[in-house]
Amino acid sequence: MARENWGSSLGFILAAAGSAIGLGNIWKFPYMVGENGGGSFVLVYLLCIVLIGLPVMCSEMLIGRSMKRNVINAMSKLEQLSHRPIMRTILCLLATGLVTLFFYAHACGLVILSALAIWAFSKKGFAIAGWICTIVALVILSYYAVVGAWIVEYIWRSLSNTLTTGSSFGEYISSPWHVLPSFIIFMTLTGIVVWGGIQKGIELASKILMPALFILLLIIIGRSLTLPGAMEGVKFLFKPTMEAFSPKVCLMALGQAFFSLSLGMAIAVTYGSYMKRKQNILRSAGCVGILDTLAALLAGLAIFPAVFSIAGPSGVTAGPGLIFGVLPQVFNAMFWGPVWAICFFTMLLFAAVTSSASLLECGATVFIERMRQGHKRLSRSKAVLFGFIGCTLLGFLTVASTADWSNIPWVEKITRWFMGDLTQGTWFDTVDNFASNWCLPFVAFITVLLVGWAWNPRKLAPKLLAEGDDIQRYAWLLNTWSFLVRWVAPIAILCVFLSFTGLVNFEKIFNLF
Ligand code: TRP
Repeated sequence: MARENWGSSLGFILAAAGSAIGLGNIWKFPYMVGENGGGSFVLVYLLCIVLIGLPVMCSEMLIGRSMKRNVINAMSKLEQLSHRPIMRTILCLLATGLVTLFFYAHACGLVILSALAIWAFSKKGFAIAGWICTIVALVILSYYAVVGAWIVEYIWRSLSNTLTTGSSFGEYISSPWHVLPSFIIFMTLTGIVVWGGIQKGIELASKILMPALFILLLIIIGRSLTLPGAMEGVKFLFKPTMEAFSPKVCLMALGQAFFSLSLGMAIAVTYGSYMKRKQNILRSAGCVGILDTLAALLAGLAIFPAVFSIAGPSGVTAGPGLIFGVLPQVFNAMFWGPVWAICFFTMLLFAAVTSSASLLECGATVFIERMRQGHKRLSRSKAVLFGFIGCTLLGFLTVASTADWSNIPWVEKITRWFMGDLTQGTWFDTVDNFASNWCLPFVAFITVLLVGWAWNPRKLAPKLLAEGDDIQRYAWLLNTWSFLVRWVAPIAILCVFLSFTGLVNFEKIFNLF
């Protein structure tokens, strides 16, 4: 059976942008900016996108398009093509380092799990990295969909005009039975999009929802900027201050850049595998990067002026509750408040669904193609159904414990044994922290090592271009790419990793100077 392709280059770009632009841009970016010192964070974030995010994204798309396979098979094929077994040794060493770390963090389950992973690694090679991607993508979906559920609830509240009269955000998320129906609605929406397939599902949804998202954002910015005192918010967003720079800000910015561009979870590999040869990867990745950054900055422009105008400077450090706790009050104080609220939350839903679809698609592609390899046929609808059921079951845990562990004390016990000191305040935080701060950088690191060192970037670079493009014209860009992939990206990721694991305290080193 022939593999599906994207209908057009624009379709691919919009779908990749649809995956990248999501809650990360509109929910997470503003609160991270608020918590990490405004303009300075934004500046570092932009550098991270250009110097590290885009080269990694090009590498992932390149793997996808060259291999035309699901991520697991792509990784093992890539390994066969490389002639440097040393890479395997390096990775095993890295993994052993992790085991030692988990040991010190009293994370018994993780020690066992990573020991198993090392064993599997030495047997099966890089395909294991592909398995990690697939599983972690589904795990991310299980809690991403919970934030999606909050959005569904807030749309309902704005429609029924109970945005500020209903229970507070904190009360709402701590009552699982209230979150559950919206969670199932959100997961179903995601399932429907992926079930539709590449052209009729993901591409179509992105082609309609992405432009709608930008139009809605612009309308809200118009309203936000015309509020009294709005300029304070704009200044906060765009004016870097020297005092606000710190290593922590840089690391948070890099982590956020990864999450926002959907890197490190094989999304670009999966989407790239449906890409045609006549598309230029550099240009496509550039467009996705620009659209994603634009969406984040526009979201900042929509939110900060309104927050400054209505809640004052103290409102910006509200953390994850910035959108759900502070914004309804902001809308409430506005003329035509419920209308703005409906626009805003609908836009957020669009953004979230196209991103969650990308997470489910990764798993679906793997299920379908691995089954075919074993000469069993698995239809797309069944693959989607399996992913759907798995994520929904896992998501129940997140729904039951967003505020604290009290609803599921036995899960807390198991998690504490499994994750040791890596356990955070709730299941939600634990999974988010483990997936985005540990797994994303780990897989991205493997990807750049493979592309930059195991595969030869000089030989590869021309493959980034479209068929028939003039290589000379792009020479400097291709050289820059190979330099960034070989040196800048791996070193930066390693620094983030060392810092998140607490092995190196960059804060202290920075203060020495
Ligand atoms: N990038 C999306 C956002 O900004 C979230 C997302 C989708 C994601 N797929 C991902 C994050 C894969 C990490 C890995 O909301």
